[in-house]
Amino acid sequence: MNRMKLILILMLGLTNLTGCDNQKVASGEKATSVTQSQSSPTDRWYDINQVNRGGELYRETCASCHKPDASGTPNWQELDAQGNYPPPPLNGTAHTWHHPLSVLRRTVKIGGIPLGGTMPGFSDKLNNQQIDDILAWVQSHWTDEIYTIWHERNLQADKSPQLLKKG
Ligand code: HEC
Repeated sequence: MNRMKLILILMLGLTNLTGCDNQKVASGEKATSVTQSQSSPTDRWYDINQVNRGGELYRETCASCHKPDASGTPNWQELDAQGNYPPPPLNGTAHTWHHPLSVLRRTVKIGGIPLGGTMPGFSDKLNNQQIDDILAWVQSHWTDEIYTIWHERNLQADKSPQLLKKG
């Protein structure tokens, strides 16, 4: 009889413990999701599939100059021996985030040569979707802070509601 009582107490105790643990997990989850929604960053215009496709294209077409991690040239503001600017970082530490999407697309298409630079244009090698994928990969290196500022400027530059209009 005493033994039965002991087992019963143990069982109840275990049940309570488990119940308590479950509650802790549940409230922990809740706390996490609240934190996330409080610091919710600006939604990005691209998804992870674009970033993955773009990363591959970037490695093939851009990495030789702008570096595989998009860090470009450390002293990108200084002219080289030939009087040209070296490939700048695209990772959000240089100027790239000053340009709206339309300008970034145009830069990749026509390059920098018409503006006195040395970057080749890629309109004959990449279609619009591929260019957007590469820019998605590039922007995935930008912090939420940089992206949010870029996003505001981009909205001002292109009031069109079809921000992602191809072309
Ligand atoms: C042959 C080297 C070279 C290749 C390849 C190259 N770039 Fe560039 N890129 C440059 C240089 C150099 C500049 C600086 C402007 C100039 O001289 O034309 C530049 C500038 C840029 C800019 C403007 C940056 C800013 O802050 O204003 C963007 C955006 C850019 N490149 C993206 C790309 C992308 C995307 C690719 C691949 C599709 C690419 N580049 C391939 C050399 C290159």
